[in-house]
Amino acid sequence: MSIGIIGGTGLTQINSLNITGEKVLDTPFGKPSASYVMGKLEGKEVVFLARHGNPHVLPPHKVNYRANIWGFKQLGIKQIISVAAVGGITENMAPAHIAIPDQVIDYSYGREHTFFADDLEEVTHIDFTYPYTPSLRAKLINLAAKKNIAISPIATYGCTQGPRLETAAEIARMERDGCDIVGMTGMPEAALAREAELDYAAIAVVANWGAGKIEGEISMDEIHQHIEKGMGNTLELLTALIREL
Ligand code: HPA
Repeated sequence: MSIGIIGGTGLTQINSLNITGEKVLDTPFGKPSASYVMGKLEGKEVVFLARHGNPHVLPPHKVNYRANIWGFKQLGIKQIISVAAVGGITENMAPAHIAIPDQVIDYSYGREHTFFADDLEEVTHIDFTYPYTPSLRAKLINLAAKKNIAISPIATYGCTQGPRLETAAEIARMERDGCDIVGMTGMPEAALAREAELDYAAIAVVANWGAGKIEGEISMDEIHQHIEKGMGNTLELLTALIREL
């Protein structure tokens, strides 16, 4: 069975993927961010989607999350791993560190965030107590231990609207709320995957300290450098998972 990978900033393509095809899809919710790239990694079938498009042009609030998830469903994918760049808030979340989030707080707004909106036969409320699929998270955490890759196995992901970065006060508030990391794309992606009954887990790569956590401004240069540093471990973990599935 194929696994779906959604690549974020710093992962617009997977170089080690042996590409076997490409599918441009249309969905009832519009067009996905890019074509779905099919290929083989470790002999296993993988379907890759660049969340921000390829080239990277869609900001977080313009990503058609519904189309992206629906497209995977149309392709028969049952499991999705998301790779996402984040800012670090709590002590261990230093740049280039990896976290496997277990919880989400959603601060985003105005995004198309549900498949259950129109032409309903009944109102549906999905259970979202544990937003990331526990069994998929457990696999990532166990493999990281096996491979000696330092990760945080528990982290609360706060999803902001973007595309601007946060203020120092916003990050301080998020820390009081219990957020460990901050990103702009985790929601509604995770909720839509649950609505579509797909397994979903995320590998979060810390790109920078959240606003106000250290002196000075956050630069895109710094963000790209740290993501590149964290991407080696991320790809190793991803490859190990694909081998195991
Ligand atoms: N805030 C929000 N999203 C991010 C950040 C950040 O500091 N870094 C990378 N994605």
